[in-house]
Amino acid sequence: MTACIVGWSHGKFGKLDGETSESLIVKAASEAIAHAGIEPRDVDVIYVGNMNGGFVRQEFHSSLALQAHPDLRFKPSTRVENACATGSAAIHMGLNTLAAKKARFVLVVGVEKMTELNSTQAGEVLIKASYVAEEATIEAGFAGIFGKITSAYFQRYGDKSDALAKIAVKAHKNGAKNPFAHFQKEFAYDFCRTPSDKNPFVAGPLKRTDCSPVTDGAAAVVLADVSTALGMKQAIAFRAAQHVNDFLPMSRRDIIKFEGPALAWKQALAEAKIDLLDLSFVESHDCFTSAELIEYEAMGLTAPGEGERAIHEGWVERDGKLPVNVSGGLKAKGHPVGATGVSMHVMSAMQLSGTAPGGLQLPKATIGGVFNMGGAAVANYVSILEPLR
Ligand code: COA
Repeated sequence: MTACIVGWSHGKFGKLDGETSESLIVKAASEAIAHAGIEPRDVDVIYVGNMNGGFVRQEFHSSLALQAHPDLRFKPSTRVENACATGSAAIHMGLNTLAAKKARFVLVVGVEKMTELNSTQAGEVLIKASYVAEEATIEAGFAGIFGKITSAYFQRYGDKSDALAKIAVKAHKNGAKNPFAHFQKEFAYDFCRTPSDKNPFVAGPLKRTDCSPVTDGAAAVVLADVSTALGMKQAIAFRAAQHVNDFLPMSRRDIIKFEGPALAWKQALAEAKIDLLDLSFVESHDCFTSAELIEYEAMGLTAPGEGERAIHEGWVERDGKLPVNVSGGLKAKGHPVGATGVSMHVMSAMQLSGTAPGGLQLPKATIGGVFNMGGAAVANYVSILEPLR
């Protein structure tokens, strides 16, 4: 255990007209510093997680964090990018900086402003997170990549549309309790299960309700080394932090096996010296409902091809044996790509400190898992978090 989250902030996710990536960064940074109970001058190093790739014209984001306070001037700040795992990548850079004793306090901000583009244009940006040489001609943007993965899964294991619809229903039921979520309303099973004008097919077997939305938002954390964290008003420790990258081309992998995510989980549970079911909850990367389904298998909750059991038997519901995406996940909370990994850590820190807002708080939250994924199971980050004391 080398580091802790000692402060955090989470803005509302959604279509945030009138906000810019700069205004989102400034708000998230200021609130996280204040929540940690430190002064801006105490921050030693800053990482800004932002994927961009054309969502906004402003490409160079690192120094926008300095706009939060004049005392942040001259602090070293770096933008980090690792596709949809950008937020966790930025946090892991912070952990590495603390482990190298190059800082006492690291500020990490994750941000994305996606909705200046329409969904088709956003899809064109997101498809750049595929192996462009072979995969960029797949239709429907990044949804097309997961459409292909879902079709391959159905071919091997049978049609799992019932399970996907139930995963969507669960996400929206949980998201309805989350004041930060993009969508804060429940969706009926029949609506999610049945294609319609309001729920058309987007890619392969994936309908609109199987996809995370195009979202704006930001979240931030302040990280500190453990001895510093002992003196802070709140401290959520990293019991494990693992990062596994796999080959980018889907053609070099059995894409429905999610071997990178499985290895990241295996290494993280070994580092934390716990079993999966010791976790009180998991925040998992449900960019598409089928991703969550396969992640049940990758984390070891079910055998390969049996992920549907986890949802059909209620294991991953809020009151199940391993609640998954109590926050509403990417599906309901939204997926502002550079912010998502930071958001997952903030949602977990809130649960573990007993401060989750609205009706989100779980009755028992002692140790939590985060799985954040960039690309189609390419950049895989698992964190295991627990209160320091
Ligand atoms: N789930 C449920 N409802 C959604 C939704 C989603 N993902 N996205 C949009 N909606 C709703 C809107 O709120 C709107 O509802 P309203 O008519 O009641 O106001 C309606 O659907 C139409 O919205 P619109 O934005 O025009 O939909 P769209 O068809 O252009 O876009 C997707 C929908 C699914 C194609 C788009 O959200 C998408 O591309 N998502 C995937 C993003 C992605 O790939 N992220 C990276 C993953 S790694």
